Amino acid sequence: MSSRKMLHGCLVLLVGLVISTGVDSQLDPLGFINIDCGLSNPSIIDNSGGDSGESLQFLSDEQFIDTGVNKQISNQYDQPKLSDLYLTLRSFPSGSRNCYTFRSLTEGFKYLVKGVFLYGNYDNLNSPPIFDIYLGINYWDTVKSNTTISYYTEIIAIATTDYMQVCLVNTGQGTPFISTLQLKQLGTSMYPNVNSSLSLVHVARYNLGASSYPLIRFPDDRHDRWWLNYNSRTLTEDSTNSAVGSSDTEFDTPPYIFQTAAMTSSTKEPLTISWTGNSPSTLYLILLHIVEIQNIPSTDLREFDITCNQDTWYTSVNPGPFNLQIDDKTTLPAKWLPLAATGDTSYTISLQATASSTLPPLLNAIQLYEIRNVTGVPTDSGDVTAINVIKSNYKVNKGWSGDPCAPTKFTWTSLQCTLYSNIPRITHLNLSSAGLTGSLISTFGNLTALVSLDLSGNDLSGALPTYLDQLVALTYLDITGNKRISTMLPPGLQKKQQDGTLTFKSELGDPTQQTKKRKIPVVLIAVIGVVVLLLLTVAIILVLCLRKQPDNQINIPKPNENTGSSPLTNNYAGNYAYSPAANISHVENAGQNYANISKPNGSGEGILNFENRQFTYSDLERITNSFQNNIGTGGYGSVYVGVLENGTQVAVKMRSHSSSQGVKEFLAEVQNLTRVHHKNLVTLLGYSMDGDCMALVYEYMQEGTLQDKLRDNGKPLTWKERLQIVYESAQGLEYLHKACSPPLIHRDVKTNNILLSANLEAKIDDFGLSRAFNSASSHVSTAVVGTPGYLDPELRHFSYLF
Ligand SMILES: *[C@@H]1O[C@H](CO)[C@@H](O)[C@H](O)[C@H]1NC(C)=O
Ligand SMILES: *[C@@H]1O[C@H](CO)[C@@H](O)[C@H](O)[C@H]1NC(C)=O
Ligand SMILES: *[C@@H]1O[C@H](CO)[C@@H](O)[C@H](O)[C@H]1NC(C)=O
Ligand SMILES: *[C@@H]1O[C@H](CO)[C@@H](O)[C@H](O)[C@H]1NC(C)=O
Ligand SMILES: *[C@@H]1O[C@H](CO)[C@@H](O)[C@H](O)[C@H]1NC(C)=O
Repeated sequence: MSSRKMLHGCLVLLVGLVISTGVDSQLDPLGFINIDCGLSNPSIIDNSGGDSGESLQFLSDEQFIDTGVNKQISNQYDQPKLSDLYLTLRSFPSGSRNCYTFRSLTEGFKYLVKGVFLYGNYDNLNSPPIFDIYLGINYWDTVKSNTTISYYTEIIAIATTDYMQVCLVNTGQGTPFISTLQLKQLGTSMYPNVNSSLSLVHVARYNLGASSYPLIRFPDDRHDRWWLNYNSRTLTEDSTNSAVGSSDTEFDTPPYIFQTAAMTSSTKEPLTISWTGNSPSTLYLILLHIVEIQNIPSTDLREFDITCNQDTWYTSVNPGPFNLQIDDKTTLPAKWLPLAATGDTSYTISLQATASSTLPPLLNAIQLYEIRNVTGVPTDSGDVTAINVIKSNYKVNKGWSGDPCAPTKFTWTSLQCTLYSNIPRITHLNLSSAGLTGSLISTFGNLTALVSLDLSGNDLSGALPTYLDQLVALTYLDITGNKRISTMLPPGLQKKQQDGTLTFKSELGDPTQQTKKRKIPVVLIAVIGVVVLLLLTVAIILVLCLRKQPDNQINIPKPNENTGSSPLTNNYAGNYAYSPAANISHVENAGQNYANISKPNGSGEGILNFENRQFTYSDLERITNSFQNNIGTGGYGSVYVGVLENGTQVAVKMRSHSSSQGVKEFLAEVQNLTRVHHKNLVTLLGYSMDGDCMALVYEYMQEGTLQDKLRDNGKPLTWKERLQIVYESAQGLEYLHKACSPPLIHRDVKTNNILLSANLEAKIDDFGLSRAFNSASSHVSTAVVGTPGYLDPELRHFSYLF
């Protein structure tokens, strides 16, 4: 007796452990659940976000799914620049639908969910599959994967339960797979267009006027939305350092987005945005972000009309035209103009200056979404919880994944559902010969709409739980072939059997004769039961000790009928999710759904691979027209002007063989520059390490160095310009010292290393001597380097210290 008590206590303890891990929110402190699919390590850090020292942690997907197999992309596509996140994936060769489950969410909250898919010929079939992705039971997108480029898709939706599921659906065009999956909780006031009956599917999100920032994402965007630069040769770009557009609670736009804009080159030319829709019934939501970034003299006017397919849009919503001058730019809230468009298959939004406008139209950013009706109704949540407890308790191996009943074409095998008040309920469950062992758990009694239950041909034992009396609609119960189960019906079902509303099939016809015969076997069963439990307990302890992260789905079989319902069944964080849109149309359009996600060498910061691109010597020769235009020579080597394929002017800094700057400094500069990202630091566009050739490719700074500018005999700088240059250089340095992690000390700040853009914006250059300073480590090199008299104040400070 006492040993049984101890055992019971031990079990309660174990159950308690399992519950506590199951109930804790899966959201990390930043509000994310990031999953690296197919990862065998517990987690991986993604540094692709940038330079602030903040990074996202991606967990292995093991605790989020129990189907599929781990795979790796083919070596051939494992380029050095590809982020490690995309090396692994999970593939789903079996089952038509396989689902990931995010648990412990908050019902009624908004979530942004993003899936990324990089095929990389992982299965050596050289055939990127096409398949569907669902959010719960509602169609979300059709994934058209590509061998070398990641496909990504995003949806913003309300959680209508405390869990959400993402399901991959095989549509007969290849095996579904997934590389990463992310969920981010959004503020309740964000995306007011989203409610429990409408969700938004991403089509495009562009930041304009930002060709030096090809991708803005986390940490600049706290929700890791990806803002791609919109490349247009015909638009003029401009940017400002000042804070424009106060923070907007509706879209929580990163400030960088406000600070750049594109405009047409004259008031005559309209600024247009076009895309092709999939069908006239598709409804789009277009958000235009417009905020003035230039200092406009009062004699000038920027005023324009906004039309969509010739219909006046802004003017019909608000009295137009759209006049930016009326707003004070320091207090102007971000203006996101929402437009819902439908009824066409091709759309053109046009921003056209009015006759009185002296300035061309301006646009900062665009977000384009498809609006989806959330039409699917998920299975009754009580049924969902119960069937999942049954599934995990008996380890039912029938490929059950996703919502049990909905959509009907994915109803789980071995069960049937019926709509009650429009809500699907499980009415028939046939687990005949499904390998069930152990006692019959009372959870079956929670499938309260059950009409037929077939448990024949298994190895169930013990009594029939009284909880089964809850099954008032039950007309058929079959437990034949379970040699060690009691055939004594609980009182309620017994009554139903007597009045002929229940057909009960069991091995031995007369339950009253059974009681006597089974006396000895019951004792035997109890002994076997205790032994089995003991073994299970040991096994569970082992499993728990061996695992760093206990599996939320571990379920302890109930010891016996008398211990009441297992605590797990009360606290089970549901396995099955719900969500939006069942209209199966697909997004094939303006969607810039492909992106190259890459990481640079060394420092681990990720950028799109067109930034920090690697050049060959012959590339450089072509770009610089055989090194024709030398614009300067430093200790490092010569600098040449060049032009990239897209027309961008660049400065190519070639390392001369006699350079005092060694390979180490060169690599330091590349590493430091890939890490930093600030308006007042010169932007590195690429580099070359081709045999002997070492070169850095920078953005071209038209006005040269500050030193030359100061000594120049031309028009002297005004005091205001000088002040601005000082201020901007200070901002660049402040960024290096405060925002970078670890902080960088430049060690050679001098007028020769401050470059000026065409509009005299100052940017700090030449990071070859800079040092990462880790305040936790005790040593900073005290050697005086760089140009005497030009040392960073910080460095001097530390020189005194050591
Ligand atoms: C993959 O993307 C590349 C580059 O955009 C494209 O040329 C190629 O056709 C795509 N392949 C497939 C199978 O879609
Ligand atoms: C969601 O928003 C749409 C459009 O504003 C509205 O018609 C609908 O009633 C809303 N649904 C809910 C459940 O609030
Ligand atoms: C959503 O459903 C309503 C009512 O059935 C319909 O009028 C509307 O056009 C649908 N919207 C979309 C985006 O499908
Ligand atoms: C359950 O399935 C088995 C075989 O899969 C079948 O023989 C049996 O008739 C089914 N039971 C019911 C009640 O339909
Ligand atoms: C079964 O139903 C009872 C009573 O309604 C409830 O307390 C229990 O949590 C349910 N169990 C499951 C697994 O849903």
